[in-house]
Amino acid sequence: MSKLLIQQATLVNEGKSFVADVLIEDEKISAVESRISPDSTMEIIDATGLHLLPGLIDDQVHFREPGLTHKADIESESKAAVAGGITSYLEMPNTNPQTTSAAAFQDKLDRADEKSWANYNFLFGGTNDNIEEIRAIDIHKVAGLKLFLGSSTGNMLVDDEEVLEEVFRSTPLRIAVHCEDEQTIRTNLAQHKEQYGDAIPIEKHPVIRSEEACYKSSSKAVALAQKTGARLHVFHLSTAKELALFSNDKPLQDKKITAEVCVHHLWFSDEDYSQKGTHIKWNPAVKKASDRDALWEALNDDRIDVIATDHAPHTLEEKAGNYLQAPSGGPLVQHALLALLHSVKQGKITLEKLVQKACHNPAILFDIAQRGYIRPGYYADLVLVDLNKTYTVTPDNILAKCGWSPFLGQTFDACVEHTLVNGHVAYSKGDFTQRPPVKALNFDR
Ligand code: DOR
Repeated sequence: MSKLLIQQATLVNEGKSFVADVLIEDEKISAVESRISPDSTMEIIDATGLHLLPGLIDDQVHFREPGLTHKADIESESKAAVAGGITSYLEMPNTNPQTTSAAAFQDKLDRADEKSWANYNFLFGGTNDNIEEIRAIDIHKVAGLKLFLGSSTGNMLVDDEEVLEEVFRSTPLRIAVHCEDEQTIRTNLAQHKEQYGDAIPIEKHPVIRSEEACYKSSSKAVALAQKTGARLHVFHLSTAKELALFSNDKPLQDKKITAEVCVHHLWFSDEDYSQKGTHIKWNPAVKKASDRDALWEALNDDRIDVIATDHAPHTLEEKAGNYLQAPSGGPLVQHALLALLHSVKQGKITLEKLVQKACHNPAILFDIAQRGYIRPGYYADLVLVDLNKTYTVTPDNILAKCGWSPFLGQTFDACVEHTLVNGHVAYSKGDFTQRPPVKALNFDR
């Protein structure tokens, strides 16, 4: 049996921060106590001055495998995730082939088992015509369902109203949705094409993929969930207006309708398009500074439940196209925690709240077993961070396969020192060790 003792870190867990020792035996945490006597069988990490967090569970990533591996793949992106303190992820179905059948789902599990550096599971994609596949899902194997209620990369729009209601009624799984109203976007885009031809300025992205497009779609999804009793999770909110659709009157365990924000919508605003161009083109679009402020407020008062990344790499060549050509999305897993810790330093959120939203809550939301907390009996998925060091994103320390970052040049007021996956130190001060013994996420349901 391997034993690892992490000494005297400041643990951030379940709403509290306190100094303690953590003993790990094989893959799991066996004790959390103020002092644990070391013995000769234990490997020791002296973590005095560092903060120990549960590894992040990112419930929204696009790792592009199979089919789009010129942009990214499971190995490259999961390593970048681990370097960024993310120890488990849920990956999205808009790959090629799409993850819309049991066979395609199994293929992804097999690939991750072979190559992933972090624990994994996948969302099963819903389409206009795979209701039978959805009904047949093994809910002990599949994290949840993903529906694109607005089109984005991968052509997975579900726009048949009857099918949509049927899907909402047919699954006990949480249904994660991308909400942007297609018709509103098409109308806005046509107007802009008329005005600018092919030369639509990138600043028009949030005018085309507008607040109205977001609200129309997310309010429809919420109404349908209320009508059918489905468990709905609205991904990547980007507007102040949508926040009225979500409440904070219940603990997360009892909420059927939940909301998420992504790091880029908390960090960037429309003032950044002139400098960053298509590198901050996302769907939904980054909107106004006032929207960003409202998202922080809703995160802090619990109308928003989860922080994720929507890590969605495209190559630099693809991003170099004009507004109409450049695809939406960008790499984020390596720098999300750093950006959030930087925001802690700026007083935008507390460390305890960050851990609740990025570690505990994704586990609650998707019924993930034995992860997301620093607790005896739980897997030792942990990240040690130094809040007294800085980290600058440079071209040579970017790990995503696409080789660029929307954070290029940014110095964060924090640094990820070590990441443990299932008790194994997978990343340490810029270096990777052996691939950790990763697992498919299991569910308590
Ligand atoms: O910006 C985005 N890119 N939003 C999405 O919903 C999809 C993603 C992608 O897959 O490229």
